[in-house]
Amino acid sequence: MEKNYFVHASSYVDEGCQIGEGTKIWHFCHIQSGARIGKNCSLGQNVNVSNNVVVGDGCKLQNNVSLYEGVELEKDVFCGPSCVFTNDLTPRAKYPKGHANYKRTLIREGASIGANATIVCGHTVGRCAMIGAGAVVAADVPDFALMLGVPARLAGYVCRCGERLTFENGNAACPICKRNCKTVENVVEECE
Ligand SMILES: CC(C)(COP(=O)(O)OP(=O)(O)OC[C@H]1O[C@@H](n2cnc3c(N)ncnc32)[C@H](O)[C@@H]1OP(=O)(O)O)[C@@H](O)C(=O)NCCC(=O)NCCS
Ligand SMILES: [Zn+2]
Repeated sequence: MEKNYFVHASSYVDEGCQIGEGTKIWHFCHIQSGARIGKNCSLGQNVNVSNNVVVGDGCKLQNNVSLYEGVELEKDVFCGPSCVFTNDLTPRAKYPKGHANYKRTLIREGASIGANATIVCGHTVGRCAMIGAGAVVAADVPDFALMLGVPARLAGYVCRCGERLTFENGNAACPICKRNCKTVENVVEECE
């Protein structure tokens, strides 16, 4: 059967993976067994997707990203070059914890992780959140939050399109794409 996705000849896809239609896997990648990658994703050079990791449709993984077991990306997640995920909060070479004890990390739909940022395991990055280059995320991130620094702190909010939002009386209109957001009990939501 002809494949409806692309894998460069320098990459390895282990047995038992699912790769969606239109996905492109570029040079020197390794997709490990049981990984499920959605449709229309792009994996840059030297990307590793570990066993059983789930990647939603439309994700973009830039060069040198490793998704370790326990990490899940919903759809349309952007991972900047060399950003780092983890799955063991207190690693020891001599006392490995094994798969069952890996901590889960969830990156929700539409979120972006900046270049060289680190996501400490056990946290959720909210929908459409933006993690600045080099930030270290060590707590859950709210939807639409812009997070900067080490440890990452809330620096504002961004639109689904990536533009900064300015709120007045709990409402914000994106100057670029014109979507509207509102805050409801300190949580940012998109208006219908
Ligand atoms: C966070 C980001 C979106 C902010 O962009 P911006 O809105 O144009 O921000 P500005 O340049 O106006 O900076 C605002 C402030 O935040 C600081 N800042 C900007 N980016 C920062 C970062 N990643 N970490 C810490 N501080 C940062 C600036 O120094 C400035 O500080 P000041 O107010 O004290 O002068 C951008 O800097 C960033 O990190 N983008 C990610 C880029 C990336 O990794 N792309 C990957 C694919 S190529
Ligand atoms: Zn917008």
